[in-house]
Amino acid sequence: MADTRRLFRTWWSTGAGVPQKTEMRMSEVLLKGVRPYGEGDGVDVLVADGVIAEIGAPGAVAAPGSAEVVEAEGQVLLPGLVDLHTHLREPGREDTETVESGSRAAALGGYTAVFAMANTDPVADNSLVTGHVWRLGQEVGLVDVYPVGAVTVGLKGERLAEMGTMATSEAGVRVFSDDGLCVADPLVMRRALEYSTALGVVVAQHAEEPRLTDGAQANEGERASRLGYVGWPSSAEESIVARDCILARHAGARLHICHVSTTGTVDVLTWAKELGIDVTAEVTPHHLLLTDERLETYDPVNKVNPPLRAERDVDRLRQALAEGVLDCVATDHAPHAEQDKCSEWSAARPGMLGLQTALSIVVETMVRPGLLDWRGVARVMSERPSEIARLPDQGRPLAEGEPANLVLVDPDAEWTVRGPELASIAHNTPFEGMRLPAVVTATLLRGRITAREGKID
Ligand code: DOR
Ligand code: ZN
Repeated sequence: MADTRRLFRTWWSTGAGVPQKTEMRMSEVLLKGVRPYGEGDGVDVLVADGVIAEIGAPGAVAAPGSAEVVEAEGQVLLPGLVDLHTHLREPGREDTETVESGSRAAALGGYTAVFAMANTDPVADNSLVTGHVWRLGQEVGLVDVYPVGAVTVGLKGERLAEMGTMATSEAGVRVFSDDGLCVADPLVMRRALEYSTALGVVVAQHAEEPRLTDGAQANEGERASRLGYVGWPSSAEESIVARDCILARHAGARLHICHVSTTGTVDVLTWAKELGIDVTAEVTPHHLLLTDERLETYDPVNKVNPPLRAERDVDRLRQALAEGVLDCVATDHAPHAEQDKCSEWSAARPGMLGLQTALSIVVETMVRPGLLDWRGVARVMSERPSEIARLPDQGRPLAEGEPANLVLVDPDAEWTVRGPELASIAHNTPFEGMRLPAVVTATLLRGRITAREGKID
């Protein structure tokens, strides 16, 4: 059990056991001239004791002399972003991402909370591992890292993991997923949904019927055939989403669908929501922007699961996000080492970085074309994810007395993506060299600045 030994070593070396919460500097911050939700004239916002203390006309808010002043005329103020779907790779693949490096990327990307997926090594299928990840996140202190618990032992899809123990443990696990793999056995999924209702948690399904994606490498269609790739059919996603909606309905459970990628899934979700089934769904920034045209490059940086789809899928996903059939954006931030990405297509691992580019991609694909305004961005990147995970202190209104989990965005600035300059240890971004709109200028976690002007504070 080398993995477990490594886990314990880290605990000793960090002095954990008793969580060492990072020192909370209770500072005051005055945000000057900001536009909450990008609406109206600029206001001054005083942040003190971890909450929004006062909002007033420019110059009308009295701040103590010790307050840090952020000149932010015309910048957009939003609730801190919340990512329901992040892969942080610790424990097990710290050569690609750690809780610390991922927290830096998250803070720089405007996030104040992220959910770290369970497909680590060892798998987060017990409260020892989930507690470890939780504590690491608290020690780093840049963003709240909520560990996702595995639904099944070892992600094998056979036996339920100790969901109850994880849910009631220190980490308070509230989202369960075998992401990376589908909980394919309908009986296992049914049981997981039944347990989830009693625990007040949500099961997040990676919808992929494995019998339909055996050997699949790319979106099924003319392009994959021409290039010689085994196709990943839309029906593999849609059939699981339909099945699980029905299972959730009978169990009276909440269900969340990870990284929706097809038009047909939007149809199924529309039907399920009309029936009153308690289902929510996320879409990734890369599925909102990129298509399978990228296959022509043969560059595995574009390999992801589910695969990049056709243009008509992208159009439909954007529309569904605007209309609320898709509830939120989640990054599926998936760092991979160079040797796992820079290989022939079929041998490369699926996944791409997302934390530092997500907001800009949403602005590019949703705000610029007029599909969402900034209030809509707050909804899909902060409020809805917080509601789905039932976080009490995130995605809150921008109002006096509310927790100061905030992000400040310069809507008029642009930047160029450079993989090696991102905070992640791995560099696998499909957006390399792209010029993107909107720059995160500051992120605040409980009133403390975590990132400022592209740097960790
Ligand atoms: O592209 C993906 N990468 N999709 C997943 O479901 C898993 C993820 C990973 O862990 O790399
Ligand atoms: Zn997945």
